[in-house]
Amino acid sequence: MTGLIEVFGHGGDVETAAARFGGNAADFLDFSANINPLGPPREVLEALEQGLHTVLRYPDPGHRALKMLLSDRLGLTPDYISVGNGAAESMALILLGLAPRRVGTVEPGFSEYSALSRQFGAEVHHVRGREELDWRAEPKDIENLMERVDLLFLGQPNNPNGVQYPLEVLQQLARKAEITGTILVIDEAFIDFIPESQRQSLAPRLNEYPQVIIIRSMTKFYAIPGLRLGYAMGRPELITAMTEKQVTWSVNGLALIAGEACLRSGESFEQETLTLVSHERERLTAGLEGYGCNVTRGEANFILAALPEPWTATSMQAALGERGILIRSCAMYPRLGERHVRFAVKDAEANGRLLETLRNVIGLDEITELEEGGKSDGTAIL
Ligand SMILES: Cc1ncc(COP(=O)(O)O)c(C=O)c1O
Repeated sequence: MTGLIEVFGHGGDVETAAARFGGNAADFLDFSANINPLGPPREVLEALEQGLHTVLRYPDPGHRALKMLLSDRLGLTPDYISVGNGAAESMALILLGLAPRRVGTVEPGFSEYSALSRQFGAEVHHVRGREELDWRAEPKDIENLMERVDLLFLGQPNNPNGVQYPLEVLQQLARKAEITGTILVIDEAFIDFIPESQRQSLAPRLNEYPQVIIIRSMTKFYAIPGLRLGYAMGRPELITAMTEKQVTWSVNGLALIAGEACLRSGESFEQETLTLVSHERERLTAGLEGYGCNVTRGEANFILAALPEPWTATSMQAALGERGILIRSCAMYPRLGERHVRFAVKDAEANGRLLETLRNVIGLDEITELEEGGKSDGTAIL
């Protein structure tokens, strides 16, 4: 099953939306991709403008300047780091470099874990997240899965539900990985949206976990999905296996310039993002719950919700799409149902427009008017 706009399996496809709903691709208010609503830091746009003339040169195939900055920030030597054309390329390089025969996933999870694994010839096995755990899997179930697979993907926070596993669970899984010989790939594409004190990550002590690779994306937090940039961290043997499979120059020169500027952009952009996202996530959650949605309490810059009956992801996508607003259907995620959708957390104005449009679409205005009318003339509203 696919949603109305997820013909390539993902949100953010404004071209498909324009073909389906009419209008210009650029005019949609897009809640289907989870990108920092502040846009790229000012320093990044300036660096790109100043760096435009460098397109006549080949980019550094060793990504050395960016790696040095990442190495400083992460407290890891450069041989622990590989830079990729988005976190998606890092996933592909892990699969190509390590060639697992059996891959494990937790469902619901990011669809590329299983799609890429199959693309590269691996068998995919999964465990199920439980609704009562906000769609996390039982750690014991993940450990059992590890006994059957060579490599396991885990989202932290997980997409589409936005929840983290506690640090102790990650440590336990990393230890289990040493026993079973499984590579544990932890996808932290969205972890920058969680305040540092609340992040549950093995990254600060990665050298204690030889079977763990951590992937991060720079496209979401720094709002450069069109440029593509991400990185992976792990012990040097694993990183070398990945980079040996990388197409030379796959990370383009402007992406490298942008990445360096992102890492130099300072704390105020990070702080502003965290404050905005946590405030707006609470506001959107309260609004959606007020409209009868069943919201999963996540910590990332997106919200998973089950729509109130009789709405389905498809009927809501159509109703909002016709009004210029895109949301992500989650009906195709294993374990989720036809009422599940995901909303990105955007800025106050965009979120306000979403809530107002939802209110009209769900028909709450009419209900309120009826109720008010009912109260004034004393008639009961059934
Ligand atoms: C959980 C998760 N990981 C990785 C990616 C890919 O990120 P990138 O744009 O850096 O390739 C996505 C993109 O949506 C994602 O949702």
